[in-house]
Amino acid sequence: MNFLACTPSVFVIGSRYEILINTLENGIVTLNIGNDTYYEENSGVLSSEKSYAKIRVDQEILDRARSYTVNFRKSINRKAYYSELGDTQSTTFEFKPLTKTENINIYHIADVHYRFAIAESACSFFGDDVDLFVVNGDIGEVETERNYLEVARFVGNISKGRVPVIFARGNHDTRGHLAERFTDIFPADGKSTYFGFSVGSLEGIVLDCGEDKIDNIKEYGGVNIFENFRRRELEFLKALPAFENGKISFAVSHMCPAQNTLTPGDVFDIDREVYEKWNTELSRIGIKFMVCGHIHKAYILEKNDKRSLRPHDYPVIVGSACFGDSDIWGTAITLSKDSLLVRFTDKEKSVREEHTVDLTH
Ligand SMILES: [Fe+2]
Repeated sequence: MNFLACTPSVFVIGSRYEILINTLENGIVTLNIGNDTYYEENSGVLSSEKSYAKIRVDQEILDRARSYTVNFRKSINRKAYYSELGDTQSTTFEFKPLTKTENINIYHIADVHYRFAIAESACSFFGDDVDLFVVNGDIGEVETERNYLEVARFVGNISKGRVPVIFARGNHDTRGHLAERFTDIFPADGKSTYFGFSVGSLEGIVLDCGEDKIDNIKEYGGVNIFENFRRRELEFLKALPAFENGKISFAVSHMCPAQNTLTPGDVFDIDREVYEKWNTELSRIGIKFMVCGHIHKAYILEKNDKRSLRPHDYPVIVGSACFGDSDIWGTAITLSKDSLLVRFTDKEKSVREEHTVDLTH
């Protein structure tokens, strides 16, 4: 492990895993899984001049092997002829595939905003019984590569490189000097931060609302074009087939497209028409529920809840409450086919609220 900057993370993108490895120095990273070797693809060239790698593998390969070995060769002097690399160093991680079909334990965290220690403590609620993490945006801002590394370290610490993770971008993750490199460094479907996913008996979509105010607001200084982005995302939703294969389907979104503000008419009440169309598509494809953060409160929106800005025929778990630097609540979700046990839990792993959400609507 002495070449790794932090524990790896295994992200779910589509029906594959994307394993993020951060190293202390620039060099070549490969993975051994079973008898095969996997690497970051650059049209035949191995990446050696950076200190992170995102390596894609088919889920069934890692699910079968239940472990992966990370290999690293430091880049000493990459040149046109006779490149010099260090010796191979290796370390192996266990992996726990999501094989359950009932009582699946998902821990959801969002809005960490750099408060890594208390958030890590909250995320340990299920201990070794956790089956999946949902890391749902606003973990930090991204001014420097170090900011990215801090978030990668946080995700590696909670998941131990052992449990799959669904990762969504939050609006604060679009802020900062290196925000434009998000999809190079963090999990994404190519350049896209919205995508479908399938893992074990679960499937769904990761959505990305982008920023929470209009693009031309002074605060952003002209660096965003999210109004077009949300319209492209609508076209993505329109092209999706309905979820009809018997898996439990849900959506992950940092901001809730049915309730992107608690106060109608305020500066956050934007793009009404597009979000309404998003919700029409979410109903059509048949998501059973949605998990969100952003509001810094923890509560349940029943379907078509009066507090929502627009109709939605799926329940929403708004699952991260912030209490300054003193506490953060995440959400422990135990998922079965017909219902969710939803527990809002604090940094001491105490249950603060408990709800049962019916999925048979
Ligand atoms: Fe947010």
